Amino acid sequence: MTAITLFVGSVYGSALMTAREIHRQLTLEGHQIRILENPEIGDLSADTNPVLLCTSTTGQGELPPGLLPFYLDLRDQMPMQTGRPFNIIVLGDSSYGETYCGAGALLEEAFLEVGARKVGESLRIDALETTEPETQAVPWVREWLKQLP
Ligand SMILES: Cc1cc2nc3c(=O)[nH]c(=O)nc-3n(C[C@H](O)[C@H](O)[C@H](O)COP(=O)(O)O)c2cc1C
Repeated sequence: MTAITLFVGSVYGSALMTAREIHRQLTLEGHQIRILENPEIGDLSADTNPVLLCTSTTGQGELPPGLLPFYLDLRDQMPMQTGRPFNIIVLGDSSYGETYCGAGALLEEAFLEVGARKVGESLRIDALETTEPETQAVPWVREWLKQLP
């Protein structure tokens, strides 16, 4: 059994639905998933679990409005997360070109700056390729959990 905290950012619901499916399936498999659909910066210090972020990309490579306050506070307050494992599932659309999955790049930079440790490669899910992001995300999380210390 592994405990993780799952931070969610979504505009139209795909990333939210993906996160809820991760929560549902991995909980059934005996893991503890603390899911935060409207995260605040204080949620980061409420436990010491590895952090998983599941977000879509909006605007021009930007974060969903619901995740933006968390991100801005993370950048402003820099609450150190030294060595804390994290990774990101980012939804995007490759037709956006240079800003493809830009939200993931922003979060990765911010988490690395506070000393968190990225475990494994991020997962990018392209809306051009799939309308069922959870079918890629759930197996990816299963493998990610195995890599955690
Ligand atoms: C207004 C708008 C802007 C978007 N901008 C980007 C972008 O800059 N880069 C990207 O990779 N995807 C972009 N997307 C695609 C979304 O990230 C993608 O469709 C995603 O699956 C939506 O997830 P959500 O339903 O959780 O918001 C954009 C979508 C919309 C509607």
